[in-house]
Amino acid sequence: MNEEFKTLSNIMDNRYSCRAYLSKEVTNENINQIVSTASKVPTWCNAQPWSVLVTKGNQTKAFSKALVDAVKSGPMNPDFDWPKQYTGEYQARRRVCGYQLYESLGIAREDRKSRAEQMMQNFKFFGAPHVAIITTESDLGPYGAMDCGGFIALFALAARALGVASVVQASVTGYAPIIRSHFRIPENRLIQTAITFGYENKDHPANGFRTQRAAIEDVVDIIT
Ligand SMILES: Cc1cc2nc3c(=O)[nH]c(=O)nc-3n(C[C@H](O)[C@H](O)[C@H](O)COP(=O)(O)O)c2cc1C
Repeated sequence: MNEEFKTLSNIMDNRYSCRAYLSKEVTNENINQIVSTASKVPTWCNAQPWSVLVTKGNQTKAFSKALVDAVKSGPMNPDFDWPKQYTGEYQARRRVCGYQLYESLGIAREDRKSRAEQMMQNFKFFGAPHVAIITTESDLGPYGAMDCGGFIALFALAARALGVASVVQASVTGYAPIIRSHFRIPENRLIQTAITFGYENKDHPANGFRTQRAAIEDVVDIIT
C-alpha cells in the first residue's frame, strides 16, 4: 500500500456519523476549505449542481426550533421520495445500525419514549454548531441528486481530514417545505440533504460504535 493510499484510507476509516458534538464552532476558513475540496468530485458535464447553505450560532438555533416545531405539527414531505422499502440485507443493515446506536446509549428496544427522544436529537443537530443544507437544480433530476451524493461523501471526508466530524441527515430534509420557507429557497432548488457538522464529543456514548461494511466478495465481481 503506498503512502497516498494509506493517508486516504486512514481518513476514510476515521470518518463515522457523529451524533454528539461540542459547541466549538468551525472557522469560516475551514468551512470554505471543506466545500472547495468536496467540489473536486466528478459530476455529469461538470455541472456541480450543489448549493451549500451553512448555519452558525443563532441561525443554527433558530433553524433547530423551526424543525422541532415542524415535527410536532405535521408529517414529513421530502423533495425526494423516501425509499419504498428496505428488504433483505438492506433491512438487516438498517436494523443493525439502529440497534448499535440504542445499545451504545443504553436504550432498551421496547423503550419507545427514549427512542423518540433520541430521534428528536436529529432536529437539535446532536448539539452541533452547524448544519449545511445541500440543494440541487430540479431540472437535473436524479443525476443532479447523484452528483450531490458524491459531494456529500467528499464533504464528510474533507471535514474529517480537518478534524471536523459530521453526519448526513435525511430526517432533516424530510421537512423540505419548512426548510424552503425558513431559508427562502426557490422552488427550482430541491433540498437534497442536510449535513450536521462540528467537533465530536469523543466521550459521548452515541459516538461509541462503528458500523460494518459488506464483505468485498459480496460487492465486487471482477470478470476475467
Ligand atoms: C442519505 C443519508 C441519510 C442519512 N440520514 C440520517 C439521519 O437522518 N439520522 C442519522 O442519525 N443518520 C443518518 N445517516 C447516517 C447513516 O445512518 C450512516 O451513514 C450509516 O449508518 C453508516 O454509518 P457511518 O456513517 O457511521 O459509517 C444518513 C446517511 C445518509 C448517507
